[in-house]
Amino acid sequence: MTQQRITVIRGDGIGPDIIDSAIQILDKVGCNFAYDYADAGLMALENHGELLPEETLALIKKNGVALKGPLTTPVGEGFTSINVSLRKQFQLYANVRPVLSFNGTKARYEDIDIITVRENTQGMYSGLGQIVSDDGEEAEAKSKITREGAEKIVVFAYELARREGRKKVTAVHKANILKSTSGLFLKVAREVGERYPDIESAEMIVDNACMQLVMNPHQFDVMVTTNLFGDILSDLCAGLVGGLGMAPGANIGGDCAIFEAVHGSAPDIAGMNLANPTSVILASIQMLEYLEMSDKAEKIRAALKDVIESGDRTTKDLGGEHGTTDFTQAMLERL
Ligand SMILES: NC(=O)c1ccc[n+]([C@@H]2O[C@H](COP(=O)([O-])OP(=O)(O)OC[C@H]3O[C@@H](n4cnc5c(N)ncnc54)[C@H](O)[C@@H]3O)[C@@H](O)[C@H]2O)c1
Repeated sequence: MTQQRITVIRGDGIGPDIIDSAIQILDKVGCNFAYDYADAGLMALENHGELLPEETLALIKKNGVALKGPLTTPVGEGFTSINVSLRKQFQLYANVRPVLSFNGTKARYEDIDIITVRENTQGMYSGLGQIVSDDGEEAEAKSKITREGAEKIVVFAYELARREGRKKVTAVHKANILKSTSGLFLKVAREVGERYPDIESAEMIVDNACMQLVMNPHQFDVMVTTNLFGDILSDLCAGLVGGLGMAPGANIGGDCAIFEAVHGSAPDIAGMNLANPTSVILASIQMLEYLEMSDKAEKIRAALKDVIESGDRTTKDLGGEHGTTDFTQAMLERL
């Protein structure tokens, strides 16, 4: 069997620490991956004079699977997000963000198990047509949704629900106000839902969905939504299970997938050995499932559950006293 090669982008800020932790864990369970390291973002700018070098794009394309640390994006001004560029470049149309509560964390509720399926390339978040007038007094941006794009993501969500034995898909929208874009998304979601009579279909306006997630999250199973709403809702979901350190994300396209933590580069704790590597470990588990290596994924998930629930060497965001390296060591000992 040919050895699976993984493109690894260690990323900015806490990225290198948490990615190194995940790689040690993948190696420890005997994944036998070969890693091709590539730069993107600030690191690439320093090393190659550009944010997304051709070599990096070529490696992601060649291997088809990448594990990526967070990349810093300047707020308001400066370069556009490399994450958004990668999603567009490789048509990674589905962003799958599961959250699962573990005992012993700052999770707000027990037994949370929600997957947000976010359209990843269209809508307001895609950065289309961003203009600021010369005098700085007016700004505009475009949001575009296509029937094809909406159908692809909603079908993806229902297929995922079926594959994972899930019971319900909730389409989250703002079609009462954004009648064109969100309206088209909802219309398509309703049509697709009818093709899946074995799965309960629900719909909810996004502002209500935020409130319902905080008050009664157990009513949600799989949520499917447009790009910007998915970005915000999935962070809200991360808050329900103990914070951003607990939330992974898979960006999936037709022939390429990039796995990452939902959180950013956390400049406030970068270089301090304080980052919780759980989200990138969970992203590695998603990667193993994508590669049909579920037995190894299960082993890592069981070790993670044990470390977190026993509180053995957990990080500060989880209420512990330890750093990234101790947490990783606790994982390695269990594996
Ligand atoms: N996928 C990505 O690459 C991605 C995602 C979001 C933000 N960003 C970028 O990251 C930079 C910083 O953004 P931000 O500060 O708004 O969000 P952030 O997610 O980096 O941090 C938010 C808060 O959560 C904490 N945190 C995040 N990850 C943690 C972890 N693993 N362990 C413990 N605590 C953790 C941080 O310390 C901070 O207090 C920005 O440039 C932003 O554009 C990148």
